[in-house]
Amino acid sequence: MSVQANGKTPPQAFSKCPFVTRSDFQDGCVALLDPLVPHFTPGSSRVKIGTSTTRFDEGAAQIEGFARPLWGLGALLAGGYEYSEAERWRQGIINGTDPEHPEFWGEIEDLDQRMVEMCPIGFALAVAPDELWNPLTDKQKDNVAKWLGSINEREMPNTNWLWFRVFANLGLRKNGAAYSLKRIEADMDHLDTFHVGGGWSNDGPKSHHQMDYYSGSFAIQFLQLLYSKLAGDFDPERAERYRNRAKEFAKDFVHYFDKDGRAIPFGRSVTYRFAMAGFWGAVAFADVELPAPLTWGVVKGLLLRNFRWWATQEDIFNSDGTLTLGYCYANMYLTENYNSPGSPYWCCLSFTPLALPESHPFWAAAEEPYPGAALPEIAVLGYPKHIVIHRGGHAFLLSSGQACHYPLKATQAKYGKFAYSSSFGYSVPTGGYQLEQHAPDSMLAISEDGGEIWQTRRLALNARIEQRGDSPVLISEWKPWSDVTIETYLLPPSEETGNWHIRAHRISTSRNILTSEGAFAIYGCSSHNGRILGLFKDDSSSEGTLEDSQRALTVSSAGAVGIVELQPGISRAGKVVLADPNSNIIHGRTLLPSLAATIDAGKQFWFTTAVFALPAGEEGWQDVWRSKWEKQPQVPSWLQEMVVSKA
Ligand SMILES: *[C@@H]1O[C@H](CO)[C@@H](O)[C@H](O)[C@H]1NC(C)=O
Repeated sequence: MSVQANGKTPPQAFSKCPFVTRSDFQDGCVALLDPLVPHFTPGSSRVKIGTSTTRFDEGAAQIEGFARPLWGLGALLAGGYEYSEAERWRQGIINGTDPEHPEFWGEIEDLDQRMVEMCPIGFALAVAPDELWNPLTDKQKDNVAKWLGSINEREMPNTNWLWFRVFANLGLRKNGAAYSLKRIEADMDHLDTFHVGGGWSNDGPKSHHQMDYYSGSFAIQFLQLLYSKLAGDFDPERAERYRNRAKEFAKDFVHYFDKDGRAIPFGRSVTYRFAMAGFWGAVAFADVELPAPLTWGVVKGLLLRNFRWWATQEDIFNSDGTLTLGYCYANMYLTENYNSPGSPYWCCLSFTPLALPESHPFWAAAEEPYPGAALPEIAVLGYPKHIVIHRGGHAFLLSSGQACHYPLKATQAKYGKFAYSSSFGYSVPTGGYQLEQHAPDSMLAISEDGGEIWQTRRLALNARIEQRGDSPVLISEWKPWSDVTIETYLLPPSEETGNWHIRAHRISTSRNILTSEGAFAIYGCSSHNGRILGLFKDDSSSEGTLEDSQRALTVSSAGAVGIVELQPGISRAGKVVLADPNSNIIHGRTLLPSLAATIDAGKQFWFTTAVFALPAGEEGWQDVWRSKWEKQPQVPSWLQEMVVSKA
């Protein structure tokens, strides 16, 4: 029996797209739009492709399914592509904004989810008026203008949502309809207060610390760039400021992508998938020339490789070619309470370069590889408090101090982990009982009830990056309870031991606790028969797990991941946790090499953890992982002194 005998998800048209030329890119966009056609409502104003629900009403959810693909359709039409199904979206806009029609989208209320969808609608009206606005009768135009314009009378959340009002108005302005310049200006002035420096904006007021893909591709930088192009005529000063911000931001943001095109999953809404690369498309749309080494060929490569990588992820589709909720496969544990079945189509914003002609430098340039040689392997990003590392065969980041400011599902997993990797992704809890369900990869989990319920870090206090010796170190504190304090030091890999990063924890506790620290979670099945891997039989086994005192390891077709306590006197038991299925966002079946230890009340204690990670992919990795695993990293002297003196 071989694992190859198992069935595979049949590849969809998107997965067969080579994503090299502009015309491939058009095909890729159509490959996402076509499968939506059977799911339109009779009046064409809504799209329903699934049955799961959201915190907002079903009408808004189906409007999402209709509107988000307009990011792609708008760009496609703006670039001169003739798409026969475009008529359907035009009808939907007409019927959805007609108060007399049974499919009327409804009056806009304060904080209405429909506000979000006004953004792609506004964009599409602005860039594709010949298909989506000019053919409308005066009455129909009036309906559209009234519906979009009604957002100006409503209260909006104090977040990136304010951008959506700006775009509703921009769409109207471009077409000579009534709009509110005063609103645009007031919203923009407010949005500008989210900017913290270096091109980075918080997703909300400065009291929060949340800088994720919303700061870049999902909303803020992306929309700033679109604005700079669409509003450059009447707001040239701001347009110029946004182009400059993008130039600064790009120098940081490039580190979040690996040489194969993957972005490092971090934060919320990652079910928007290739929307993560949308910033690079917006750079092109806005004609911004970035500083070296970010040539047009590099920018093009960053965007197209991301699409090409997603094309290899055949499990992102339902069997009818519509996108699932999830990351690399359908996964409801990952989703936010605002993710409807249509939500993932926010990814269509990455198609914006389709609006540009073949002669644009983005399309005219020859694609270039990831500019790794011109970038540091270890980048210290002060604003998001990330140390991003391109070493050891993957791109990953060390993180402390970010947190979402409202009750997000699996919020600890999305913002609180020590590390996030482009190859291994992150895991989310599937339930609240025992380690297997908590699935705490890249976390130190603490239990006071013998291992039923585990605390993991959500709020890291006093996070800061300091230079120690010749390395940046990310330092932070965490208080799982008021009488337990954990100070954590995160160290990027040294050059000599590039597959290892170190995490040191100083723990003071006034209660008895159980601890479990996880490495990355890794695909945990045998390539021979697809079953969950067991303990290594002998040294010649190429796949398996190891559980020792002081260390744990898993090696599978996805690579090798392990964890070790570096201080000989500290007793931590190696254990490979069988993580619950569907906890990891990249692979459904994972194992989590971990270290378990108990600490008695009244003690101050140091853990010095080294985490090993060698993703499959590099030629010959199977021949080298063992020697790299055997060569443990040195504890830097400044750290060793603190640990030994129990300071
Ligand atoms: C929706 O709008 C279009 C264009 O106005 C119209 O032709 C079509 O019949 C409408 N559909 C329904 C079900 O009303």
